[in-house]
Amino acid sequence: MARQPDQIAPSILSADFAKLGEEVDNVLASGAEIVHFDVMDNHYVPNLTIGPLVCDALRSHGVTADIDVHMMVKPVDRIIPDFAKAGATYITFHPEASEHIDRSLALTREHGCKSGLVFNPATSLSYLDHVMDKVDMILLMSVNPGFGGQSFIPGTMDKLRAARKMIDDSGYDIRLEIDGGVKVDNIAEIKAAGADTFVAGSGIFGFPGDSDANRYNTIVGKMLAELAKV
Ligand code: DX5
Ligand code: ZN
Repeated sequence: MARQPDQIAPSILSADFAKLGEEVDNVLASGAEIVHFDVMDNHYVPNLTIGPLVCDALRSHGVTADIDVHMMVKPVDRIIPDFAKAGATYITFHPEASEHIDRSLALTREHGCKSGLVFNPATSLSYLDHVMDKVDMILLMSVNPGFGGQSFIPGTMDKLRAARKMIDDSGYDIRLEIDGGVKVDNIAEIKAAGADTFVAGSGIFGFPGDSDANRYNTIVGKMLAELAKV
């Protein structure tokens, strides 16, 4: 099975929320393709961010790119239909946060979205054993969830290789996404370990260019150039 094309997914957690629509427009104009949307509930993770209203607002603003909703919430099922209605493309959740993982994955697809599971650094990939046919995305956390700006945990490289093998062996079209501490200087190594979807928050929004129109061209361009080397 062919590997999916690389995609950069800026995490808007590190964007300027006072002008979010403009930030998303600028980062998508730079060559990034997916909007990574971090949902935190001050319960499953010790931080509080954004919900379906903001996803809906981005769609109303005119964002047509895929929106990748990373739910760090517990419980999971109640909020899935709300995100589907708000225009989410992908909805991913942490298996520890759902009482019935198979049901939550099915619910996501029933509502017309792509489904996925998210693995914390110490969470086993064995949660995938019986649901490979029910996921469109596997997201590996390379930091503990809850905050942007943390350092990449090196052990994630081996886990990426293991997840890559599971996907290749399965024969399904499943994206392998990495989230946390992704920068220009490690993105090539991360791709070589098997990832095809690269979340970067502080690594992108922390490096604005000179003018608003091409604000993120330089940093996203550097990441794409690194990916092209692998
Ligand atoms: C952390 C979030 C990440 C975070 C990544 O819980 O899931 O998406 O925003 O931020 P950086 O790229 O700064 O590590
Ligand atoms: Zn995330």
